[in-house]
Amino acid sequence: MARLGGRGVKTHRDHVLVTTGSQQGIDLVAKVLLDPGDVVVVENPSYLAALQVFAGAEADIDVVGSDDDGMRVDELDALLSRRRAKLIYIVADFHNPKGTTLSVARRLRLIELATRHGVTILEDDPYGELRFRGVRPPSLAALDDAGVVLQLGTFSKTLAPGLRIGWITGSPELIRACTTAKQAADLHSGNLSQRATAKLLETFDYDGHLAKIREVYGARCDDLLGALTRHLPAGSRWTRPDGGLFVWVELPAGLDAERLLQTAVQHHVAFVPGAPFFAKHPRASTLRLNFSNRGRELIELGMTRLGEVIRDAQAHIASA
Ligand SMILES: Cc1ncc(COP(=O)(O)O)c(C=O)c1O
Repeated sequence: MARLGGRGVKTHRDHVLVTTGSQQGIDLVAKVLLDPGDVVVVENPSYLAALQVFAGAEADIDVVGSDDDGMRVDELDALLSRRRAKLIYIVADFHNPKGTTLSVARRLRLIELATRHGVTILEDDPYGELRFRGVRPPSLAALDDAGVVLQLGTFSKTLAPGLRIGWITGSPELIRACTTAKQAADLHSGNLSQRATAKLLETFDYDGHLAKIREVYGARCDDLLGALTRHLPAGSRWTRPDGGLFVWVELPAGLDAERLLQTAVQHHVAFVPGAPFFAKHPRASTLRLNFSNRGRELIELGMTRLGEVIRDAQAHIASA
């Protein structure tokens, strides 16, 4: 709580609920706020398991585009003038799947729009602590004076996903409603992993650990970006993250990442095809790469192989 409070997020106990991972936070917010047919605005593409929650809530999912500075807030402005939305879902820092970060100017505009239109923002922030370049911008929660932001956090990306410890912060009214919804879901999150994590945070150099993983991930990200330059065909483009775990790649038109994956796996290299991350208008030529998990040699080898698989597919298309 001290960490969150230090970054300008309200952490009095009325403002916080511990959840079973941040995924449960998304689910609880959907249960509390959404009725079938309610409009939820997401970036296109967006975190797949959030889309699953909103689809399960029978929401009407509408989309705005994104670029290297994150959500296209100008498009959001136009959309909110046209449609009455209930919720805006956003990963502002090191987006999943794109790895991009919302600029400060867009953060301010987003808060202003949500406040004016009376829409709640769900800021999902599992990756903010994993910044290895640049200065951390204020979170949407820290910029929010009107009580329109609910923020989700988690230890899944900094300690271990198996702990299943996350949290929601926000206005006491919404936190109270989420607490009631959580009681129906699982009464409360397990005490054992919370106590173990509390003890760990007392006895272990968490800041030192974060500094170390940031350094390793930053170096691996650079390795991946270098390998992409060497091995991907002309016409490919990709994001350049300042933190997090992912790089988003757009291959030349005509290539289908789902098909490429089948061949790539035979060559012992894997990625996540991008199409399922789109709530609307899926782009088959996109894919998500992770850079945190393997060292330089394997990243280079994997991208060499991926480059070969892509070039073979291009040759096949050209000869068809
Ligand atoms: C954007 C985003 N939100 C939520 C989650 C879920 O995290 P947790 O393990 O805390 O439930 C993930 C995990 O990949 C994620 O990428």
